[in-house]
Amino acid sequence: MGFPKDFLWGGATAANQYEGGYLSGGKGLATSDFITAGSMTEPRMIVIELENGERKAINRFEDVPSGARVVIDEQLYYPSHTATDFYNHYEEDIKLFAEMGFKGFRMSMTWSRIFPNGDDATPNEEGLAFYDKIFDLCGAYGIEPIVTLNHFDLPNHLAVTYQGWLDRKTIDFFANYCKVVFDRYKDKVKYWMTFNEINFLRDYSTLGITDASDLTKQNQAIYHLLLGSAKGVAIGHAINPEFKIGLMIANILFYPETCNPNDSIRMMELERGFKDFYYDVQCRGAYPNYKLKELERDHVELKKVPGDDEILKNGTVDFIGFSYYNSTVVSTSAESEQAGGNQFGAAKNPYLEASEWGWPIDPSGLRLVLNRLYDKYQLPLMIVENGLGAIDKVEEDGSIHDDYRIDYLRKHITEMKKAVEIDGVELWGYTPWGCIDLISAGTGEMKKRYGFIHVDLDDEGKGTLKRRKKDSFEWYRKVIASNGEELS
Ligand code: BG6
Repeated sequence: MGFPKDFLWGGATAANQYEGGYLSGGKGLATSDFITAGSMTEPRMIVIELENGERKAINRFEDVPSGARVVIDEQLYYPSHTATDFYNHYEEDIKLFAEMGFKGFRMSMTWSRIFPNGDDATPNEEGLAFYDKIFDLCGAYGIEPIVTLNHFDLPNHLAVTYQGWLDRKTIDFFANYCKVVFDRYKDKVKYWMTFNEINFLRDYSTLGITDASDLTKQNQAIYHLLLGSAKGVAIGHAINPEFKIGLMIANILFYPETCNPNDSIRMMELERGFKDFYYDVQCRGAYPNYKLKELERDHVELKKVPGDDEILKNGTVDFIGFSYYNSTVVSTSAESEQAGGNQFGAAKNPYLEASEWGWPIDPSGLRLVLNRLYDKYQLPLMIVENGLGAIDKVEEDGSIHDDYRIDYLRKHITEMKKAVEIDGVELWGYTPWGCIDLISAGTGEMKKRYGFIHVDLDDEGKGTLKRRKKDSFEWYRKVIASNGEELS
């Protein structure tokens, strides 16, 4: 009973929020290097230079107009540039992960560290050597790296020169990146994921396209992205048939607000658009009919070439990786009170409490998600992100009492255990988000912390970067040592 013996307990990070070293070791600029910090009330911005030379800052989700150039304004703070500096602290950090007993460490590689421009003829050896050091160290501690190939950015040169994923050539640039890293690390890394939260990629910084809200451009770019992912999976399997290559989707759980059938119909539509489509393509290898109909209604004709259908069919995934932070409520009533959430605000759920950032906390929802996914796709699952973003206080003696975080994680692990023990879901691992403090993707803040390990850095980028264990560190160590039995 309980979790399988080889269950991958660990933690998760992403390069654009953790790695730093944005110009070190031959790395090229990534689109994420152009996003400023923000806050709960101020959005993260990007600075663009228009064709007439005028500069202005726009919300990073706003369309970058064609002809405009994204620039770095030296007066502003760009959190990805140093982030929490894994680049220079990896030895210390991985040692701490090992001390907690991690069996798996989810991290992402920076595409522009390997191919600084994205379309280079040869890879950057210094970048490859950097990840060799990481994977070797993980190996020495018996930690399985779980590697996301691309987390929320792309080499900026691809955006500037090709409009990123809008151009079919980007499929081959990505495939080449996959080939190089799969070849290089074929004996060091077994678990891979192609794109982080592929269902959130819709703007300049993630797709590399201008006028990103244009439905034709957006759908074409997403089509290429899915082809890129499928190609990557097939290339990986050819290089090492032992590889386990997964997808990664932001799995917000939806509830209808009432038993009014309209709420459920709306929920079905939203679920399909927001997540089901991405699962269906990557697990089943083809566009589902509801998506084809939607494209027809929107007068979007995808540009396809012969052989594309086979690429999608031959590139289905081995497992489902997903993030789960919160659930949301779908309502068709104009009167419902709004709630916050993981980039997806909807009606408020009166039965749930929320985090300081307004994200509803719903541990039982995790059991539902696990069951629904397993029932539908019959593929092994991995919870590759989950956690509580909260403000931590460092006491005078340096201790950090984050019992709220322990409480959140304990409740989610309890539900995860029910899904395994009672429902028989095949779950491979659990890597809570931001196992060491890193920059928030949503707000760019530092004070929104998820980690078991505190990093001394503030919202303006000031601090010593010193690492400190929080109370949750020792708690999680015991959870892992007891394979999920000791949760108190
Ligand atoms: C997920 C992302 O959406 O949520 C992470 O994959 C992100 O990159 C995480 O950090 C938590 O969101 P936030 O906005 O609190 O950092």
